[in-house]
Amino acid sequence: MCGIVSYVGEKQARPILVGGLKQLEYRGYDSAGIAVQNGPKISCQRSVGKIIELEKKISSLDMDGTMGIAHTRWATHGEASEHNAHPHTDQEQRVFIVHNGIIENYAFLKKKLQKEGCRFYSETDTEVLAHLVGIQFDGDLAEAVRKTMSQVEGTFGIAVIHRDVPGEIVVARRGSPLVIGLSDEGHFAASDVSAMVRYTNQVIHLQDNELATLRKDDFLISTARAEPIQRSIETVEWHAEDAELNGFPHFMLKEIYEQPETVMNAMRGRLELGEGVPKLGGITPVWEELKKCRHLVIVACGTSYYAGSVGRYVFEKLTDIDVEVEVASEFRYRKLNFPPNTFIIALSQSGETADTLAAIREAKRKGARLLGIVNVVGSSISRETEAGIYNHAGPEIGVASTKIFTSQLTILILLALLLGRHQNLSLTEGAETIRALQKLPEQIRKILSQANHIEAIAEKYHTCRNWLFLGRKFNYPIAMEGALKLKEVSYIHAEGYAAGEMKHGPIALITPEMPTVAILPKDDMYEKMISNIQEIKSRRGPVIAITTEGNKEIGEVADEVIEIPPTLDFLNPILAVVPCQLLAYYCANLLNRDIDKPRNLAKSVTVE
Ligand code: G6P
Repeated sequence: MCGIVSYVGEKQARPILVGGLKQLEYRGYDSAGIAVQNGPKISCQRSVGKIIELEKKISSLDMDGTMGIAHTRWATHGEASEHNAHPHTDQEQRVFIVHNGIIENYAFLKKKLQKEGCRFYSETDTEVLAHLVGIQFDGDLAEAVRKTMSQVEGTFGIAVIHRDVPGEIVVARRGSPLVIGLSDEGHFAASDVSAMVRYTNQVIHLQDNELATLRKDDFLISTARAEPIQRSIETVEWHAEDAELNGFPHFMLKEIYEQPETVMNAMRGRLELGEGVPKLGGITPVWEELKKCRHLVIVACGTSYYAGSVGRYVFEKLTDIDVEVEVASEFRYRKLNFPPNTFIIALSQSGETADTLAAIREAKRKGARLLGIVNVVGSSISRETEAGIYNHAGPEIGVASTKIFTSQLTILILLALLLGRHQNLSLTEGAETIRALQKLPEQIRKILSQANHIEAIAEKYHTCRNWLFLGRKFNYPIAMEGALKLKEVSYIHAEGYAAGEMKHGPIALITPEMPTVAILPKDDMYEKMISNIQEIKSRRGPVIAITTEGNKEIGEVADEVIEIPPTLDFLNPILAVVPCQLLAYYCANLLNRDIDKPRNLAKSVTVE
């Protein structure tokens, strides 16, 4: 986790770095720090808490300088305290370094360095990097970083400055993301383009075991063996305003409201009504083998995992492919047999989730083919998979994922439809699906227009400490995602269950103080869901039903009703999740939670 940003150029570095950190705060937000260099002078400040605390602390200080580095932290080694916050420095306080990642052999290196006389000021793994660079520096900063890289195991994205080399920043990566930004007014490097998109859309993604030396007017990328590298410049699609609130009180709400657009973007240019087939250019490199695929494994974490779980039901409906979904962190412990032409789909908003990356590396070792569905262009997963599909949903800033979930569902459905159409799915079924997909953005808008009604429901139930979410088949993962959303942002305990499992345990919890959100669109699961609701009602549990509009009889069994427009059964999850997101949002808002940065969470989880 953690976010780093660095700048060298003509402008004052402090506002650029603080602004960049604010954009990266989703990566961690328990402490932060900054070091600005002016000739041989480096001013460094650290503080506990969010970036705003650091900003307050440095507001009256003299921190002039046109280059510097900064960091926002999500603690791994050592508590969130000022002395553990980055930048870290060496014995002589000549080297300053910010680091995202984990140095796995730090304990060994620390002991060795201590024997050599180094004194450590923090409990972090990062501090060994500062000492190693300091000891090995003999006038060439890049060379000192190179030597350090050869001694450490683990992952890092780092930015390093040195008192004796004013005007130069050395950045390097292994396993953690690092993007270089190019502009006429200077050069940037950060964990994510959002930290620099206000100044430039011209970027280069650094690859593993590469370094870059950044100066005001030039930059040089090189390998760990000091061979120079030429890399083409990419233009990012994001705009600065994508990462702004634009009048919304929170990014989570803004992103919920962006869903008509982001679902549309996931389909844009990809639908061919006449043929009843989607076009997915990103998978062309593997299409011949993918067409023959009979075994598919979806790996993902968190919300992406629940999207994958819906995907399994959809693939099973539209294709003849056997589909497994696996939580990425568990994938490596399974003894999976991959028949020929097994494809793995890594599903990830950030494209950087460590567990998902580890899972695809393991799958590759075992001979599986790799596809990625990711939002962040140029991210590690997008580069380590053979082919894939981008969400094109713009940056998702709220830590709890919303718009990417519905975008992922849309893409999984497109992929299933494409494969299904090369198997048994008829043109009529293909065209019917495409027509239904095209209606989704407008239908989501209609659900969003019920926001006041959903807020009123939240008002009634937000003080209940335990909630249950129930669904079946396509909507079982929506029950789990609904519960996850509520937990993440409101800290209310919630469980998502397959409705049929309720009688095997959770029913013991039902009381008038425990609301159940029942997801029951009018599909072939409807009657069974009604029976489950009856079981709850006979134990006096309040029921909030999410059902298809025009359903008159539901009012007789449910206390509250939220309507979603009619669609095909396997598209219902895209609609049904929206009220769940709004319920979670409004409960959290009424409870005064820190909605976009819930406690203990981070958006991009780059530790295993
Ligand atoms: C974190 C985020 C979740 C996200 C999960 C997977 O836990 O807080 O919102 O669903 O990581 O992230 P990914 O980027 O791989 O989709």
